[in-house]
Amino acid sequence: MYLGFDLGTSGVKALLIGADQSIAGSATAPLEVSRPASGWSEQDPAHWIEATKKAVAELRSAHPDAFSAVRGIGLSGQMHGATLLDESDNVLRPCILWNDTRSYKEAAELDADPRFREISGNIVFPGFTAPKLVWVRNNEPEIFGRTAKVLLPKDYLRLWLTGEHVSEMSDAAGTSWLDVSARAWSDALLDASFMDASQMPRLVEGSDASGMLRSEIASEWGLAHPVTVAGGAGDNAATAIGMGILEEGSAFLSLGTSGVVFAANSAYRPNAESAVHTFCHAVPARWHQMGVILSATDTLNWFSGVTGKSASELTSELGGDLRGPAAIFLPYLSGERTPHNDAHIRGALTGISHGTDRPAITAAILQGVAFAFRDCIEALAAAGTRIDRLIASGGGSRSDYWLKTVATVLDVPIDVPAAGEVGAAFGAARLGMLAAEGADPAATCTMPAVEHTIEPERALTDAFGEAYQTYRKTYTALRSI
Ligand code: XUL
Repeated sequence: MYLGFDLGTSGVKALLIGADQSIAGSATAPLEVSRPASGWSEQDPAHWIEATKKAVAELRSAHPDAFSAVRGIGLSGQMHGATLLDESDNVLRPCILWNDTRSYKEAAELDADPRFREISGNIVFPGFTAPKLVWVRNNEPEIFGRTAKVLLPKDYLRLWLTGEHVSEMSDAAGTSWLDVSARAWSDALLDASFMDASQMPRLVEGSDASGMLRSEIASEWGLAHPVTVAGGAGDNAATAIGMGILEEGSAFLSLGTSGVVFAANSAYRPNAESAVHTFCHAVPARWHQMGVILSATDTLNWFSGVTGKSASELTSELGGDLRGPAAIFLPYLSGERTPHNDAHIRGALTGISHGTDRPAITAAILQGVAFAFRDCIEALAAAGTRIDRLIASGGGSRSDYWLKTVATVLDVPIDVPAAGEVGAAFGAARLGMLAAEGADPAATCTMPAVEHTIEPERALTDAFGEAYQTYRKTYTALRSI
């Protein structure tokens, strides 16, 4: 058996698979995000460990025999977060998360140094790790001075599991400190952000072993075998592993807290100017490109909070037939990465009339996220990656209505995987299997069966095409005020 952990923004998921990759069970424990100021987003790393323990306890009590046969563990996690540790591995402050944009000034300063785009292959976005450390240096110098190690969220979980400071290429690529072509820390980039290599964890490939489960935890969890912990992956690369997105040209769409259009590449093809992210994949000698929007399902969750209706109540009010565009929603609740790299922009709802009722606003929100995905597709095209088919993942992909909206706005069919687990936790479990057994990645990471395909609604593609142009102009107008 193999265990995958996905340390997401809204919860920790633990998933157990057998040698034939069938799902034995899964359990999730929730996490909260704290937002002490506009644009800030933090979590206490101690809550990650508590949530992991809770998820394991539930999984063990539901599947005691299967759990006790675990031989390999893989880790997936929200990317870019800065977990600062002192010399004794004590956490120095709450983790600054991927969707925290407070370090926009520091990010722009680093990005102005041409070495960052040249070596890391990416814009230095405010959500990436390096500018956060410069922010800490500028605003919390005492904490900066005591920082002995910086770990990404899932690598902090690994420290607890194995006692070792290790990261892997896919997540490390999102720090702005990695030479993404050479798959090694860059001394030049570390130095340019007042850091050095001693503060970085050791690097492995995602499908390689990173360490062994500590014996205390193994005996507490009733595990008989020595258990290998794989490098794992950032949550997007882990989802790609779960969905078999390894070959050039294959791509998925993730409708999670963030929204991602991810395409696998067999070579390193950076194009920072387009605000596309170019990162290492979780298996050796592969890379990927992705467009990332900061608020996808988070937009509907926000409206759900405002209206007191659950997200599924809101979408079920829409009925089955796809609505055409009317009011325009810009989903920039905490700024945007692809294609704007704009930490200051905030969301907007325009074109409201007397007829704009709650379902019309819900429809506009779903459409606004679809327009943001179209921006990503255009940015990927500018980076040389054409997408003509997508496979869906993430919580929001449970809504066929939302997928139909996205398929129509993108004019691309979207495959919906057959029921079952194919997301980041499943990808993590696959990496656990690869590391423990030395199996072949391409043979192990196959694509899921497709349950149905959502085709674009041809009668509405022109109307959405026009609305997309209005959406683009609305951003420009909003930015100017
Ligand atoms: C990717 C990114 C998000 C997080 C979400 O660059 O910031 O997709 O990984 O967990």
